[in-house]
Amino acid sequence: MIQRNELPQWQALAAHFEQVRERHIRELFAADSSRGSRYAAEACGLYLDYSKNRITDETLPLLVDLADACGLRQAIDDMFAGAHINRTEDRAVLHVALRAARQASIVTRAEDEPAPYNTVAKVWEVLDRMVEFAGKVRSGEWRGATGKPIRNVVNIGIGGSDLGPKMAYEALKAYSQRDLRIEFVSNVDGSHLAETLRGMDPAETLFIICSKTFTTQETMANAESARNWLALSLGGAAVAKHFVAVSTAAAEVRAFGIDLANMFGFWEWVGGRYSLWSAVGLATMLGIGPENFLAMLGGAREMDEHFRTAPFGENLPVILALLGVWYNNFFGAESHAILPYDQYLHRFSAHLQQVDMESNGKSVGKDGRPVAWQTGPVIWGEPGTNGQHAFYQLIHQGTKLIPADFIGFCQSQNPVGGHHAKLMANFFAQTEALAFGLPAEEVPATFPKTPAELVPHKTFAGNRPTNTLLAAKLDPHTMGALMALYEHRIFVQGVIWNVFSFDQWGVQLGKVLAQKVLAEIEAAKLPELKHDSSTNTLIARFRKLA
Ligand code: F6P
Repeated sequence: MIQRNELPQWQALAAHFEQVRERHIRELFAADSSRGSRYAAEACGLYLDYSKNRITDETLPLLVDLADACGLRQAIDDMFAGAHINRTEDRAVLHVALRAARQASIVTRAEDEPAPYNTVAKVWEVLDRMVEFAGKVRSGEWRGATGKPIRNVVNIGIGGSDLGPKMAYEALKAYSQRDLRIEFVSNVDGSHLAETLRGMDPAETLFIICSKTFTTQETMANAESARNWLALSLGGAAVAKHFVAVSTAAAEVRAFGIDLANMFGFWEWVGGRYSLWSAVGLATMLGIGPENFLAMLGGAREMDEHFRTAPFGENLPVILALLGVWYNNFFGAESHAILPYDQYLHRFSAHLQQVDMESNGKSVGKDGRPVAWQTGPVIWGEPGTNGQHAFYQLIHQGTKLIPADFIGFCQSQNPVGGHHAKLMANFFAQTEALAFGLPAEEVPATFPKTPAELVPHKTFAGNRPTNTLLAAKLDPHTMGALMALYEHRIFVQGVIWNVFSFDQWGVQLGKVLAQKVLAEIEAAKLPELKHDSSTNTLIARFRKLA
């Protein structure tokens, strides 16, 4: 099979890069007064301005040619049709079914199912149960073992069973029922659970044990400790009223002691990091309410439809993905910053870190051979304006090229004084400064009385690429569309890089070794350690001081 970097379309981009690499965004804007409005696309309430990129009129069409040559159209159709595109695990990839309309049909066949079935019908069965359950808890109809209503919900999960639902809950907290406290415990470090439960009344606390496999070490350890904490004050029989499970593994749920009537299922074709739309989002739904949760699914559904049908040159996920490829594979950028100008999105880049890096952090292609090109970048970021006072210095004046996405909203959820105008003034100013910089000759006008020897230090080269995503308001619909936008961006990049985006074998080795080390740490007497000399010394020292 012809390798990606041998494709004529890849080579055309490499040649084009030689023409574009020295051009400055300043010059590109000067040559075309309509650039700012021409290099834009809009869908599902999201306006994307990609004009402040190091691209010319030729670049996007060349990137689209590459996408075509890599079979993107067929790949999208295969995913939406329920084909087993996760080939290393022989599974379909159907997070799009989790937000499909009730009357839709996507048929697939899973390993544990005797015959093909409509996934969407199953999805809505569970959604209806979640809605009913959330209604009972939120209204106080669901009572704990002593008859008290639930005031605290603690989701215990890790990775996709934590990051997604927590991020979405935080993002939409403005829509939450404030007298119901929603917490998330993920770290196996006992301090996480202990600090979360401090001061909580067990009689008013509901635990959601959220794990696709129900075997994850961290989650099961936290779940057992939570059960002990509850049983200590309310007795073992209280577990039934205070524990529910979200999982694909009914046998393990039953073995833990949770009644299957209180289990909310999902399916092998839902990847952990793409699962917040499923029952994994139960804590989110409890917090923001079923109506808002369903509106979030609606926003994602609209983005799915846009992604599936819009021409690639107008397709938001495709444009963002291709620009990412442009910097990653031709400019040699190593990372990509996600910079939301909204405090409610403070966990957004943490969530995207998992979705992106666990999906495309691969170095072997679909043919089993090492890839000869760069794959997934390092994803990172913090909300503005905090980031401006921390790491933006390096983005503005450092030696590294860091493409960034700026995400902002026209209306604030909390219009306090002049805060929102100040926030958004910074938002617009930053992308302007990054793109246009400040040439030495303009330094005195901006920074009067600058001594000559300081001019180089106050000069900004500019030419730092950014995308701007602007929406009216961070409401549930917009949030759904935004998250789906990034999911599909990652999908497109996986297709271009020819990697399997939906497995995560890279997390397995550490898990296996940790089991071995755990036995050595817990053994009554220090066993003979057979690791390398560094690991042996560290374990021995730990045992001495623990
Ligand atoms: O870190 C690996 C991983 O398998 C993630 O992909 C997943 O989201 C996480 O562990 C949690 O898995 P589970 O939901 O099965 O507990």
